[in-house]
Amino acid sequence: MTRLSQKDVLRADQFSREELELILATATAYEQALAVGEPLHDLRGRILSTLFFEPSTRTRLSFEAAMLRLGGGVLSVAEAKSSSAAKGESLEDTIRTVEGYADVIVLRHPEVGAAARAAAATEKPVLNAGDGAGEHPTQALLDLFTIRKERTRIEGLTVALEGDLRHGRTVHSLARLLALYDVRLILVSPEELRMPPDVLERIAASGVEVVESTDLRSAIPQADVLYMTRIQRERFATPSEYERLKDSYVLTREMLAAGDSSLLVLHPLPRVNEIAADVDDFQGAAYFRQAANGVPVRMALLALVCGIPRATTASP
Ligand code: NCD
Repeated sequence: MTRLSQKDVLRADQFSREELELILATATAYEQALAVGEPLHDLRGRILSTLFFEPSTRTRLSFEAAMLRLGGGVLSVAEAKSSSAAKGESLEDTIRTVEGYADVIVLRHPEVGAAARAAAATEKPVLNAGDGAGEHPTQALLDLFTIRKERTRIEGLTVALEGDLRHGRTVHSLARLLALYDVRLILVSPEELRMPPDVLERIAASGVEVVESTDLRSAIPQADVLYMTRIQRERFATPSEYERLKDSYVLTREMLAAGDSSLLVLHPLPRVNEIAADVDDFQGAAYFRQAANGVPVRMALLALVCGIPRATTASP
């Protein structure tokens, strides 16, 4: 039994530093096993159900790939339209049904707090794959894994989070995780899309130095990591407000010339317009490597919540 056995993963700040290190080290062990083509059977006989009530490519497919790589099975509801929610079934009733079919449930839902409601309805572990404009803790874990892998450390880095910080659940979760480390944060957004007060309070309480800015260009020379996000069209009350803000920032190769040559550029994807295609062959443009890291990190999470600890070497 490990400390994460049978636990839900609902928020980024539920983790202690020790648990984060366990997840990252387990992910590294799985990454190494995948790299040498080691056949894995750690979750043989277990079933994961993915319930996605909002669109997804990376999160759903990487959770499913992770379960299949571990020898487990997958039951997937990719579109709520095809489930009984379309007939008016409550989330709680859907979850009580699915717990009869699966050992672990991964949920994406448009309402903030939906994953916590689902977790309250079942004893089975529920992993939050995005609850509206709330949180996306498993994405933040793979972001942290990517930063450490690409930059060899997290401590001491200056991380700029850019874009729709108000509605972006990935940045809400990542900021909360980074607050556990000795980092400096630069929050770059239009005035209307600033980081919500509860996340700012959490960062401030952790003692991490944070500055807010509306200027992407001036953040680039200071940053070790630049985490771009898209403006979240689906969270705006009116289309005109989205249209006004959608092209607030576009990162180009020319802008990167002002930054360090080892600058790491991340994005949870999908991108819309905010990173020009000419950035893609910049050495530090790691967003597709970041997406691939979703598999070992989600393998680690699934194995740990199922109570299958894999022996790991000590993490840095
Ligand atoms: C993100 C999400 O769904 O919150 N995508 C993802 O999971 N990789 C980011 C986004 O949709 O902008």
